[in-house]
Amino acid sequence: MAAIERSNNARVAKPVTHSEKSDEQAIDAAAARLRAGGLVAFPTETVFGLGADALNEIAVRRVYEIKGRPSRNPLIVHVSGVEAARRLCADGAWDARCEALASAFWPGPLTIVVPKSERVPELVSGGGASVGIRCPRNNIALGLLRAFERLGGLGVVGPSANRSGYVSPTTAAHVREAFNAEDVMVLDDAEATREVGIESTVVRLRPRDSKGVSAEILRLGAVSAEAIGRMLRGTGDNRPVAMVTHAQGESNVALPGPGLLEVHYAPRATCRLVPREQLVEALDRARRMRPHTAIVVVATERDQVPEGMRQIVLPEDAVGYARRLYSALRDADAMEPDTILVVDPMPLTDDGHGALWDAIMDRLRRACGPA
Ligand code: TXA
Ligand code: MG
Repeated sequence: MAAIERSNNARVAKPVTHSEKSDEQAIDAAAARLRAGGLVAFPTETVFGLGADALNEIAVRRVYEIKGRPSRNPLIVHVSGVEAARRLCADGAWDARCEALASAFWPGPLTIVVPKSERVPELVSGGGASVGIRCPRNNIALGLLRAFERLGGLGVVGPSANRSGYVSPTTAAHVREAFNAEDVMVLDDAEATREVGIESTVVRLRPRDSKGVSAEILRLGAVSAEAIGRMLRGTGDNRPVAMVTHAQGESNVALPGPGLLEVHYAPRATCRLVPREQLVEALDRARRMRPHTAIVVVATERDQVPEGMRQIVLPEDAVGYARRLYSALRDADAMEPDTILVVDPMPLTDDGHGALWDAIMDRLRRACGPA
């Protein structure tokens, strides 16, 4: 039965359904758990995050531990909005450019890397002097962050809620597969697909008075470098935006060259990316080399996969593809094949989603590792 609840300043009473009510209770319990040093996985529009109180070093250490993540790889801090973001930065670091980016893209899939406040433990920043901050576009996540801040908290670290190196989780079930219920409470919004489905764009701002570039894209995502550049120019910063993603996996350590791309976001089976027109040939070749080899093909609606092949079919548009990509890789992996062949999904003509396709291809290359 629907209950009626009045908030202090609400002019119109909003009917609260039973499930909303239990969501609220779950969110409050989760926020309290975070404040007490516990871990809570939460949905976002990109992937599920593994949350802990960013200012509680013991809790943050636990996140690295259960993920199996190298401690030099910094964690993103999630906030409910710019007010909290400002408090996590060094004095004056949250400038007009940050304001412009946040007002254009927050809540949303953009992580802004800026000089950190002393409040932020070095464990969170991977030993470095900057912190990555993001306000996610998901009601459960925002509810959790607000409840956490009401309890006096500031910032929730949220790496993707997978074991380090594996495919990021896009459902609560994915998270539960990786961690024990005693270790991690999971908040679920029961959505079958995430709104975005791949991780946020990570952008590092360069000091205003430095020569060179205004900002560096450290990880590709749904927010494009072009859109970021446009917003920065709007604040009078006309320097170019640079791409430094080839040196970045989930690791912050510069790799000697793009050929040594770290394998990441990767299924357990050997994963290979094949051009659309070479699929049949690739299948024949694989079978000739090992007659009983088990293969799963991840293709799009426009691809022609030979009959009888085990296959997972994704939408052919960039938005639909990104939303379903990680579930598809996990489903393919669950069939326990020797090889997953992913058909290169790039459309032949420009569909206006170039930046999202670039982010998708970045994830596919990391899943497949060096050719
Ligand atoms: O969409 C997302 O960003 C998801 C959701 C849960 O918010 N989170 C996520 O976190 O993908 P994680 O930890 O899996 O990836 C964070 C990336 C890593 O590549 C990390 O190296 C980089 O952001 N990063 C975080 N803080 C940084 C910093 N201070 N400087 C440079 N890179 C940073
Ligand atoms: Mg991750």
